[in-house]
This record gives sequence, C-alpha cells and structure tokens, in this order.
Amino acid sequence: MSTTTESLTGAEIVDLCKRHTLFEWSVQSAIDPVPVARAKGVYFWTPEGKRFIDFNSQLMCVNIGYGDERVIRAINEQAATLSYAGPYMATEVRGRLSAKLAELTPGDIDVFFFTNGGAESNENAIRIARMFTGRHKIGARYRSYHGGTAGALTVTGDPRRWGAEPGIPGTFRIPDYYHGIQKGWDTTEDVLTRTEEILELEGAKTVAAIIVEPVVGTNGILIPPDGYMQGLRALCDKHGILLIADEVMTGFGRTGEWFAVNNWGVVPDLISMAKGLTSAYVQLGAVGMRHHIADHFRNIFFYGGLTYNSHPLACAAALATISVYEEDNLIENSRRMGKVMRGLMEDLERRHPSVGATRNIGLFGIIELARDRETREPLAPFNGTSPEMQALGKFFREEGLYTIVRWNTFFTNPPLCINEAELQEAFSIIDRGLEITDRATKA
Ligand SMILES: Cc1ncc(COP(=O)(O)O)c(C=O)c1O
Repeated sequence: MSTTTESLTGAEIVDLCKRHTLFEWSVQSAIDPVPVARAKGVYFWTPEGKRFIDFNSQLMCVNIGYGDERVIRAINEQAATLSYAGPYMATEVRGRLSAKLAELTPGDIDVFFFTNGGAESNENAIRIARMFTGRHKIGARYRSYHGGTAGALTVTGDPRRWGAEPGIPGTFRIPDYYHGIQKGWDTTEDVLTRTEEILELEGAKTVAAIIVEPVVGTNGILIPPDGYMQGLRALCDKHGILLIADEVMTGFGRTGEWFAVNNWGVVPDLISMAKGLTSAYVQLGAVGMRHHIADHFRNIFFYGGLTYNSHPLACAAALATISVYEEDNLIENSRRMGKVMRGLMEDLERRHPSVGATRNIGLFGIIELARDRETREPLAPFNGTSPEMQALGKFFREEGLYTIVRWNTFFTNPPLCINEAELQEAFSIIDRGLEITDRATKA
C-alpha cells in the first residue's frame, strides 16, 4: 500500500489496521472495528457517512465532545509557537496548566507530575507513595482497572491482570463493596471492618498506599455506599497510609463534579488523572499530590521521568479543554443531564423485564441485564458473553449507537455536552434494542 492523498474506504481502513496493528485486549481474529473518519459534538461518522451517536465518549474520555474549535485553535497555535520542549525546560503552558489544576483539585493538592496517560499516572503515584512513606505494599480492589503497564496492571483487579501476572511484588486486595448483580452490595460498616482486618493481617505499617477508583468505571459504574470513601480516608489516616484516588475516568465532570471524590468531600493524598484532562484531543495524564508530599522532594531526589513529560501540545490542549468545561458549564450539564438519564433509566426498568439494574452518577452510567428478575441471573457470565448480549451489541451498531457492551452490561457515558434531545435519541435506540434481550428472559 503506497502513501497517497486519496482516501481509503472503510473496508480498506479496517483491512490495513487489522493486517498491520494489534488491537488491544482482544483475540485478533474476533475483532471487528468501526472505521471512523470524522467527528463533531456527540457524533462520529464512518468514511461512507454512517453516523454514530457516541454513548461512551470513545473510552470515557471525549468529555467535551468532538471537534471543539477552541481546543483545535489552542493546539494549532501551540504547534506553531513551540511544539515540544524537554522535561527540564519550563514553559508557559506547563506553568499555567499546573496552576489551574491546583485551583481545581481538592484540598491542598497543588503539585503535579505530567505523564502520557492514566497508567503512567498510576505508576508514578505508586512510586511517589513508596518513596514518601518508605513502605512498599499497595492495596487495591478486585473490581478495578488502573492501566496496562506493569505496576498499574498488577494493582488492577479485573481479568486483564491475568496475562500480566505475576506482576510487581507487594500488592494485595482490599474488599469490594459490590459482588455482581446476584449477590449485590455490602454495607459501609461491613466493608470497612473487613478492610481494616486485612490491613491488620498485612501489617498496616508495611502499607504505602491504597489505590481506588472513587466510582469504579469499567468494572461496573460502582458508586460506593454512603460513608465508604470517608471511612477509607479515616482508615488510611489512622495507619499512615496514603490514599490514591484514580480519577482517570471519573475526573473532569464525569460524575457531575470536577472530581468524583468531591461527591463525598474526601481529599486524597495523590490523584491520578488523564482522559478528560484533555478530552483526548492530545494524550496527557497527571498525578497530583498534596503539598506536604511534594515538599518531601524538595531536598530528596525524585525518581521519575518521561521524554514527553509536560508536553506543550498536550498542556495547551488541557488548558483549552478546561476553559471549555468552564465556559459551557459542562460540569453542571453533567449533573443536570445525569438527572434526565436517571429518569430514562427508570422508565426502561419499568418496561423491560431484562433490565436487572441501572446505575448512574452524573453522566457515568451502566445498565445490567438479567435473565430472570427474581433470581437476577445475569444475561452473560462474569468475563463472558452470550448470544443475547452479542445480538444487542450488533443491534446498537446497526442502529448507529456506539457504546461498550461488556459481559451482562452496557455503558451510558456520553460526552458531557450532550443535550436532552440527543439523550432521548440514544435511549430510544436502547429501548428498541432491549426487546431482543427481553425475549431471553424467563417470564
Ligand atoms: C480508572 C482508570 N485508571 C487508569 C486507566 C488507564 O489509563 P490509560 O489507558 O490512559 O493508560 C483507565 C483507562 O481506562 C481507567 O479507567
């Protein structure tokens, strides 16, 4: 294939990409990618002009929506002025962005280390916690995802970890508060009591940090029971353990707050972010730290570095993206449209027997499907699929709704700029799709 300016067809694009690239977390022969040519607002199009409403913001990252001229202009201007400066340089965009993040992040978090994405942010958060505390163990939950690099994948609990084992030493599990649609939820008191028991058994003095997604993302949009985040914060304080909030997916308005921890008034010691930081216009991650943690490195060597640390293009994209959240009131829109989404979900629950559970906080949502409302048997097993879930995924694709269908669930995570009419449009496709899964229920 020669390099020409002629556009390829969707089929040609898929063929080339499949032939010469690996697609992530997949058996390559089973993957059937959507060819994407352009995008605007909450929609994207194939080269042949088929339109999709993006109900997952790609990977829960295009928070402000596609094609925002303000961000595009900022990237273009930065590219023309200074497209790159090495990590030992000080640049205006790096300075301005870190100062802005210090304003937005909770409590006294006011120093940031910039990375290329979520996994690297978590790697550095783990290393900073180890350097600061002089301890080595890291606690994390099973129902979690923290990224695809060695350390981040070891602390990850979901099945993507299996292929990376044995991973890095020193990690252990703390209890989950949700156990799948059939077993349901633990109380705050129960899960915190079991967490403290595990800390005792591990030796709390050996534990550097606990890393959690304040609202679990890919593993089920799991909103913690009231008091859990505050209780976890208190346990960490009691034992001198750092709390790392992995806000890679939940940060920047997804839950209706700038950061999900704000829902519970909790200030973590370290906060990881990526995705919504630039809405994926350019890749950028960061780990933010409380003031006293940053102070630790004033006179002690900081072990950490990346060629693309504080990349000017990415910093410019982040600054412009943050202005868009502010100018367009997107955090507020996430909260408001989240309420509309709640109503639409409750309507589906009333009318579709296959809807076993729905959850959302802001525009972070999921629908769990069950074969039987009484036994709540999921419509696909843990880490598996079923003909019905596959048929639903196929229907969504044919009807131009893009979202992730995973196990017995599918996600409802549109860009935060979505309006009510667009939400209705997506839910009307979902409504029709659920007729397929309703047919699989035991009446
Ligand atoms: C909570 C969470 N942490 C970390 C990551 C990893 O981020 P990245 O893929 O940018 O490395 C993800 C990605 O989905 C995530 O959802």
